[in-house]
Amino acid sequence: MARNKLFVSRCGTPRRATPRCGTSRCATPICRLSLQESRPYHSPPESDQMPTPIHSKAKRITTHILQEMKEGGEKIAMLTGYDFSMAKILDDAGIDIILVGDSASNVMAGHETTLPITLDQMIYHASSVVRAVSRSLVVVDLPFGSYQGNSKLALESAVRIMKESGAHAVKLEGGEEIGESITRILSAGVPVMGHLGLTPQSIYKFGTYVVRAKEEEEANKLKRDAMLLQELGCFSLVLEKIPATLATEVSQSLSIPTIGIGAGGGTDGQVLVIHDMLGLNHEFHPRFLRRYLHLYEEIQGAVGRYIQDVRSGDFPNENEQY
Ligand code: KIV
Repeated sequence: MARNKLFVSRCGTPRRATPRCGTSRCATPICRLSLQESRPYHSPPESDQMPTPIHSKAKRITTHILQEMKEGGEKIAMLTGYDFSMAKILDDAGIDIILVGDSASNVMAGHETTLPITLDQMIYHASSVVRAVSRSLVVVDLPFGSYQGNSKLALESAVRIMKESGAHAVKLEGGEEIGESITRILSAGVPVMGHLGLTPQSIYKFGTYVVRAKEEEEANKLKRDAMLLQELGCFSLVLEKIPATLATEVSQSLSIPTIGIGAGGGTDGQVLVIHDMLGLNHEFHPRFLRRYLHLYEEIQGAVGRYIQDVRSGDFPNENEQY
């Protein structure tokens, strides 16, 4: 299936045992330990306690918190989100970053690539997410055609996203060739996340969604680009579908956090497309993807039962009416 084939582009990651939020909701032992009121009598002295994780102390995740997390060796958890209801669940669950990805073009709108989605559509998704969020950092993709080759346009697009959606940062795909756009956006005080490796907006240039930067020349360009993006002032970098050894090397050479997708466990954080990790796309099963649920089958089963209940007259029953 063409769509399935194209989806093989979005790459993912191994799971890390990152402790969760640390609020009273959180059942993770390390987080419970960090709460003064739940510390048991026989606790070891303060100095022997595990330090409270940086992310669990933060009321809001900011770019500075992410930087501290990298410095403290704490992994960053990012997922995509495109609508109010899902973003609320992600935020309440303690996700660090919600990426309003242009993958909305695939999973929300059903396009084969990320190219058709518009700036207005990204703003619509982003503002729905922002309304749901009280803690996570919301990063929004600048869509194809809204920044490449024109830094004035790039700034206008970023400003529209920030003003009209209330998001906290933008993400752009590419290295040196979009340096001017990144600089201009940053000069307006808008935080920028970079994106290197497989950059789906360039799919027609690559021609395929296979692993990028396997050859030395491309790997060297990626390393130069990563360093440049850091020097320009990007607060973080997505590394998509590149060899794990290269992603680890880049992550170790940078002081800003890297977020990997299909880039192995050596990056400072991981991102997955929410539809993929929840199993809403039952036809998409690349090697990098870990599925945490099988919602396609679950939802299909529930809908099937509903149809049966309606047809049989079982729904609604006496208690389900006025
Ligand atoms: O659009 C998107 O979902 C992305 C992630 C896969 C990194 O850019």
